[in-house]
Amino acid sequence: MLNKTKLSQMKADGDKITMLTAYDYPSAKIAEQAGTEMILVGDSLGMVVLGYDSTIPVTVSDMIHHGKAVRRGAKNTFVVVDMPFMSYHISIEESLKNAREIFQATEAQALKVEGAGEVLHTIEKLTYAGIPVVGHLGLTPQSVHVLGGYKVQGKDERAARQMLEDAKSIEEAGAVALVLECIPKELAQLISEQLEIPTIGIGAGAEVDGQVLVYHDILKYGVDRLPKFVKSYMDSHTNMLEAVESYVSEVKSGAFPETKHTFTMNPDFLPK
Ligand code: KIV
Ligand code: NA
Repeated sequence: MLNKTKLSQMKADGDKITMLTAYDYPSAKIAEQAGTEMILVGDSLGMVVLGYDSTIPVTVSDMIHHGKAVRRGAKNTFVVVDMPFMSYHISIEESLKNAREIFQATEAQALKVEGAGEVLHTIEKLTYAGIPVVGHLGLTPQSVHVLGGYKVQGKDERAARQMLEDAKSIEEAGAVALVLECIPKELAQLISEQLEIPTIGIGAGAEVDGQVLVYHDILKYGVDRLPKFVKSYMDSHTNMLEAVESYVSEVKSGAFPETKHTFTMNPDFLPK
């Protein structure tokens, strides 16, 4: 199983880290079989699985429910579970309590938290308690209403300098890796060069130590709109829709079920 040392070794070796989100048993199985090194049970599940329009409604019990299913589907992969909105902001006691609950129930290898500032203390405390932490900077969706929308972060000099500082502080606080979301590639490269822990980019260009994308996005599964940084490797929506339409029309026409789908018995045994 991966750990902090191996992750930093992969970075030092230039071995790109692959991360994909998963939210349930079948998606976790696919991610593990495909050889992704890290699975993220992202709070993006609120949007792609539960149909909310942001990650804000997602709860600790949602994360546990989905995290446990992912664990059952991917027993041998490094699983990171997101701490959801406001579960690590009220007090350090509450943050630790929520983290313990998620970490123990899901048997994750790490938890992910968004931002720096006061969150740095949480990263330190969790690490001290034995819970590996993944940081997350740039576009941090739990703060969408403060950021004023889903847009590229760190484009001006002040914001770029702040993000570099925050990244260093997150490493200093003990994080094992850092997700960089939706930032200019130049800044992502600079941050990656200045850290020893790996950076995992999403919309952060190629000069980072790994990539993460959302399962439903790369498969085009139930998502209406894809951001610029996503590459879809198949169109499951269309494929699945066609399959389900065929089922509906075959039931209507009587083409399904056929003999091979059907059980029989000796007609003599049928009640008269
Ligand atoms: O919730 C999520 O899927 C994430 C990734 C986009 C990094 O946090
Ligand atoms: Na997330």
